[in-house]
Amino acid sequence: MTSRRQILTSSSLILFIISYVLLFHSSIGAVQAQSSAFVAPNCSADSYAANSIFETNLNNLFSSLSSKSSNSNSDNDTEGEDPDLVYGLFLCLGDLSHDSCQACIQTAISGISQECSQKRQGLIWYDYCMLRYSDDNFFGVVDANGSNYTNPAHPKEGSTEPLEKMSKIVQEAPYQPLKFETFSLGPETAFGIAQCTSDLSSEGCEQCLATILAANKACCANIKGWRYLSPSCWIRYEPTFFLLPDNQDNKIESFNCTGDMYNANSTYQINLGDLFASLISKSLSSESDNDTVGDDPDHVYGLFLCQGNLSASDCQNCIRNATSDIQLLCSRTRGIIWYDYCQLRYSNVSFFGIADTEGFFSTNPDTSAKTNSTEPVDMVSKLVQEAPNRRPLMFASNSSPSASLFGIAECTMDLNSTECGRCLKTILEDIRACCVESEGWRYFSPSCWIRYEPTSFFDVDLAPPSPTGGGGGGGGGGEFFLALLEIT
Ligand SMILES: *[C@@H]1O[C@H](CO)[C@@H](O)[C@H](O)[C@H]1NC(C)=O
Ligand SMILES: *[C@@H]1O[C@H](CO)[C@@H](O)[C@H](O)[C@H]1NC(C)=O
Ligand SMILES: *[C@@H]1O[C@H](CO)[C@@H](O)[C@H](O)[C@H]1NC(C)=O
Ligand SMILES: *[C@@H]1O[C@H](CO)[C@@H](O)[C@H](O)[C@H]1NC(C)=O
Ligand SMILES: *[C@@H]1O[C@H](CO)[C@@H](O)[C@H](O)[C@H]1NC(C)=O
Ligand SMILES: *[C@@H]1O[C@H](CO)[C@@H](O)[C@H](O)[C@H]1NC(C)=O
Ligand SMILES: *[C@@H]1O[C@H](CO)[C@@H](O)[C@H](O)[C@H]1NC(C)=O
Ligand SMILES: *[C@@H]1O[C@H](CO)[C@@H](O)[C@H](O)[C@H]1NC(C)=O
Ligand SMILES: *[C@@H]1O[C@H](CO)[C@@H](O)[C@H](O)[C@H]1NC(C)=O
Ligand SMILES: *[C@@H]1O[C@H](CO)[C@@H](O)[C@H](O)[C@H]1NC(C)=O
Ligand SMILES: *[C@@H]1O[C@H](CO)[C@@H](O)[C@H](O)[C@H]1NC(C)=O
Ligand SMILES: *[C@@H]1O[C@H](CO)[C@@H](O)[C@H](O)[C@H]1NC(C)=O
Repeated sequence: MTSRRQILTSSSLILFIISYVLLFHSSIGAVQAQSSAFVAPNCSADSYAANSIFETNLNNLFSSLSSKSSNSNSDNDTEGEDPDLVYGLFLCLGDLSHDSCQACIQTAISGISQECSQKRQGLIWYDYCMLRYSDDNFFGVVDANGSNYTNPAHPKEGSTEPLEKMSKIVQEAPYQPLKFETFSLGPETAFGIAQCTSDLSSEGCEQCLATILAANKACCANIKGWRYLSPSCWIRYEPTFFLLPDNQDNKIESFNCTGDMYNANSTYQINLGDLFASLISKSLSSESDNDTVGDDPDHVYGLFLCQGNLSASDCQNCIRNATSDIQLLCSRTRGIIWYDYCQLRYSNVSFFGIADTEGFFSTNPDTSAKTNSTEPVDMVSKLVQEAPNRRPLMFASNSSPSASLFGIAECTMDLNSTECGRCLKTILEDIRACCVESEGWRYFSPSCWIRYEPTSFFDVDLAPPSPTGGGGGGGGGGEFFLALLEIT
């Protein structure tokens, strides 16, 4: 490792802050994640000549990596022969769909070609991927030399929990199939990831992550929102969901996966696929339904919920997206994912009929205005009384444009009215404790939801899933740019 040539001189470091977007909020919700923002490249000083063999090799390498990114989240390759041999590697966030990964790598290829134009070594980071090439063999070499970035708003971190969770996944990630692990926290949301490039051994990965975690502790732990990017591994923690590219109309608000990992092509995974197909089909005729598939130990139970008066096609599109997104986010025996307008839950253990109130809250991120008015909570309180007695759907809503009061209370259909009432009352108490001064709040739990907004959230028109089937967009490259970075 010490014999390794210094591949890049610090004087050649280029950091272009084109602009950044404030992605951080103490709450989750409609954060404006605009496209292209910040590119963090690191290029060598040495150049190659235009129309040289090296250039041809590099272009061939790029097309090979682009093609590999359509079926892997991290891979490496080489092109040519000494002295024009070029080594290349890419890394996509572990949960990214292959389509999204390839789109990100294509963006990165144009990005690195511009930022590191005619350089013999280059490295570029985006929100969802990283691309690196060099005339020096770096495969398998741990390079933890990177940079820290923090939430530009610098909100103080009061809890030690995010760092504790990160310390845990930093030890787990090296032993996962994609050297990738995530965490989620509630009831105030927080999300984290740790990941290494695929060329490292598990031991190398451990070493890399331990190094950047220590560096990150030194600089950033007291801020709510940070990331540390190095050539061989990265970690990131944010109070808002960032694990898949954003869909503004119907954002992923939270997810939670527990239990053991299930194996690819296992009976459990096959049963899960059948369960999801059934739930997608049921979501065209009901806003909430459940099903089960298989026998112990591969028995899987599932349930979905859509906002009570969502159109049938929107409900189905939302559930279809949820089935593909949750499989990208977790390969665990139990999972739940919440969107603005629907949720999907599955488990190897029956959870039907019993209210589970362990969810998350959020306040309207578009306003920091405080209110003393008790009207919103009184309105939702009334809905909480009404919903359990409505059948078959335990859904009650209020729409008062003149008073700027819109609200819902809703339970999953597997509960009886008593359980529904218990669920709604519990989360209403949680809202009273956290959020009633905000103009807009919600509490979503696995078994029931309440939500109040000063503007209508009923007349939504959600786009159908992309032809390639959800997984978080794959369109233009802009969405992959590294947003929100500020070097501390
Ligand atoms: C990728 O890197 C690994 C680890 O160093 C190495 O074993 C493998 O041969 C490389 N793959 C290619 C195609 O160069
Ligand atoms: C990190 O950088 C320092 C100095 O810039 C260098 O001495 C060290 O070898 C590098 N470490 C790795 C793992 O590349
Ligand atoms: C760029 O690479 C050089 C050499 O590896 C390293 O010293 C420097 O810290 C890197 N810069 C960033 C921002 O990662
Ligand atoms: C995730 O689920 C587990 C088990 O049900 C629960 O203990 C934990 O609080 C949940 N975490 C979040 C963030 O919802
Ligand atoms: C954090 O980043 C700043 C700016 O690049 C740097 O000066 C500082 O040393 C970094 N801190 C750590 C612990 O890496
Ligand atoms: C469900 O999965 C957990 C671990 O993921 C396991 O401990 C438990 O025995 C399983 N339960 C059943 C009924 O299969
Ligand atoms: C799972 O099955 C698919 C299709 O049969 C196959 O392409 C893939 O390699 C299998 N994966 C594993 C890990 O066995
Ligand atoms: C759905 O849940 C209800 C209530 O617990 C239960 O009676 C019903 O059997 C479940 N449906 C399926 C298909 O499992
Ligand atoms: C489903 O996902 C696609 C692709 O990300 C998105 O365009 C669409 O709006 C999503 N639909 C819903 C209902 O969330
Ligand atoms: C409602 O469901 C709960 C939990 O399953 C059960 O304990 C309770 O007896 C049920 N109440 C009625 C009235 O059926
Ligand atoms: C709202 O409460 C604050 C104290 O929490 C008080 O200073 C303010 O006067 C109140 N405003 C109204 C309109 O009651
Ligand atoms: C949904 O409910 C709201 C509030 O009750 C109502 O204004 C709206 O028209 C309903 N939408 C549909 C499609 O039923």
